[in-house]
Amino acid sequence: MALPPGPRTPAPLNLLRFARRPLATLQGWHARYGDTFTVKMPGFGVGVYVADPDAIRELFTGDQSDLRAGEANSFMEPVLGPHSVLVLDGSEHLRQRKLLLPPFQGSRVTAFREVIRDVAEREVARWRPGGELVLRERMRALTFEVICRAVFGVTEPDRVETLRAKLGAVIDSSPLFMLSGALRKDLGPGTPGRRFRERLVAADAALYEEIDRRRHAEDLESRSDVLSLLLRARDEDGRGMSDRELRDELFTMLGAGHETTATGLAFAFELLLHNPAALARLRAELAGGEDAYLEAVVRETLRLRPVIDAAERTLTKPRTVAGWELPAGVKVYPGIVLIQHRADLYPHPHEFRPERFTEDGADSYSWIPFGGGIRRCIGAALATAEMAEVLRVAVPLVELRPLRAAPDPVVLRGITLAPKHGVRVAVERRLPAATRPATTTATV
Ligand code: HEM
Repeated sequence: MALPPGPRTPAPLNLLRFARRPLATLQGWHARYGDTFTVKMPGFGVGVYVADPDAIRELFTGDQSDLRAGEANSFMEPVLGPHSVLVLDGSEHLRQRKLLLPPFQGSRVTAFREVIRDVAEREVARWRPGGELVLRERMRALTFEVICRAVFGVTEPDRVETLRAKLGAVIDSSPLFMLSGALRKDLGPGTPGRRFRERLVAADAALYEEIDRRRHAEDLESRSDVLSLLLRARDEDGRGMSDRELRDELFTMLGAGHETTATGLAFAFELLLHNPAALARLRAELAGGEDAYLEAVVRETLRLRPVIDAAERTLTKPRTVAGWELPAGVKVYPGIVLIQHRADLYPHPHEFRPERFTEDGADSYSWIPFGGGIRRCIGAALATAEMAEVLRVAVPLVELRPLRAAPDPVVLRGITLAPKHGVRVAVERRLPAATRPATTTATV
């Protein structure tokens, strides 16, 4: 079977180009080879990128029985565990997903907004005029705390700090520990494998302690954090989640939701700072209690700077995709970057224009920063609420100045597309207290 055309350069070179300049590389291939193209990269095998909205819609909503997404994530299993919704496929995946979805539905997320604002207010209060910040780092600290409080339901400062230290030691370890079984091998005291194991054991102990405390909490029935809801959840057979399943999903939500949301927020600040007219409009609309532009800023940020470059599905049987008969074993990538930069869908696609989302909105298969179908991101509503609330708190309070003349180049960091220098800014001044707009229930 013929595969769609694509770069003939050696696979390692493709990966190198992609890792150094993911946006420009993907768009260059798209321009040269069209809406469906094949790329070989070491460790990823043969991948077919898809940039056509109808083909992406079909992949997300058509027959799913010959598509696997968990398999490709299996390299994360040593940390996330075998029950993680990210690494499962088929009926096991659906069982975990059905249990996990309700706590993240829009109405629940409204309750998280207060937590997010509280964490954001304390963070921004520490930004002193004359100081310098690496925004991605500040946002990583913030999103970690939001997950601790909203998802794990842990609010006591010392417990949050214990989790930050113990879980952070694992998730901040080199991604090589996930990729290489040899590196993880315990070769005795002081070796990298032993140290990694010790960090994992300590992180697990901290999580199991929280699970145990919550199982026995007197107020379990009335609590609204995700862990408490999961402890009360039952599947179709009336079965609840085991401690092991809960541990794996808590780790998964942290792994999938902390770095990604922090990066999205760093990009949002960066794009606003380099587009003063948009920033001024956001300030004015927030002062007037208007939310539409804030939501548009979040959507436009995730369009122009998607944190994940593509969704991924492995074919277990031959399948026709965008008119190509693809063989089993091929990985198909609904291209998030590709579709969100199409000039026919988004005029002047490289410009930051939040107003495009206040006017028309977008077809749901042209705006896909959270993927789609039965694998769509579980935390999408939480992530967009978090981005909106942090901007709502920070933008009226402080004036920041970017330390670099141009936006950071976008590079690959782990599995995310991230600003190379983390968005470095100076704190210019604190703004006079603005009228705080009323709490909103809107979701982006
Ligand atoms: C801006 C922030 C985020 C972005 C850009 C993002 C993006 C994504 C993408 C692209 C996928 C794959 C979807 C697919 O294959 O179709 C995904 C899956 C997932 N995300 Fe997110 N995510 C974000 C935040 C979060 C948060 C806050 C959480 C939870 C607290 C979360 C939990 C998950 C989980 C559990 C999955 C796996 C779903 C499944 O396999 O069924 N994510 N995310």
